[in-house]
Amino acid sequence: MPPTAEEIAAGQAFYTDSTLPNYDLRVLTLSNPLIWRCPTSRLLRFFDTHVSANHLDIGVGSGYFLDHCIFPSPQPRIALMDLNPMSLAYAARRIVRYRPETFLGNVLEPLDPPTAGFDSGFDSISLNYLLHCLPGDMTAKAIVFDHIKPWMNAGGVCFGSTLLQGGVTRNWAAKLLMAHYNRHGVFSNRHDDVETLEAALRARFSSVEIEIVGCAALFCARL
Ligand SMILES: C[S@@+](CC[C@H](N)C(=O)[O-])C[C@H]1O[C@@H](n2cnc3c(N)ncnc32)[C@H](O)[C@@H]1O
Repeated sequence: MPPTAEEIAAGQAFYTDSTLPNYDLRVLTLSNPLIWRCPTSRLLRFFDTHVSANHLDIGVGSGYFLDHCIFPSPQPRIALMDLNPMSLAYAARRIVRYRPETFLGNVLEPLDPPTAGFDSGFDSISLNYLLHCLPGDMTAKAIVFDHIKPWMNAGGVCFGSTLLQGGVTRNWAAKLLMAHYNRHGVFSNRHDDVETLEAALRARFSSVEIEIVGCAALFCARL
């Protein structure tokens, strides 16, 4: 069954002008190392490894990784896409030095050229901590990979991370916090496991790598 408009809205409603300034402290400084057991420094290293000078970030949040990663060029082309106008504006302000292109849109819908507004493809596309916010099971939410593929240039890479419940080890705090976020629709990852994520990626990409760090799967896929 396709997700309802309410479920889709719930996955982005948490990110507001009052929560975004605290996101780095709450999620990146505290939850990542202590609860999800996936240190932000590990995610940043992963970002640095795969980001290109022609990059699209989807589900931008506070824009921390774009602000701190090392682009392979001093003047990268960066595009930001998010369903939430507050996240989009917050992240764009944070990296205004790169003059990012911004697109308001739902990644669960096809990114047709008129909708997306992009005029050319990307060498890298990141989906960091996005999938666990999307409603539906992993098979359903993997439709986002179909939507981004037409925007990947030949040789391009899609990479990101997502918090899972299956195929990872969760401490009691991770179980409690995930249950809390799932109850409120902030997360929808009750049925997300590493096997289904890997199958969804392998069905669409020729090369796939997944590493589990704490409760997170760090994935990287090429056409
Ligand atoms: C947990 S934050 C990720 C932040 C950032 N990528 C990071 O790793 O720090 C999830 C982001 O995904 C966005 N989002 C949620 N549902 C979305 C959808 N259907 N389409 C596009 N963006 C969405 C939210 O608005 C939010 O900015």
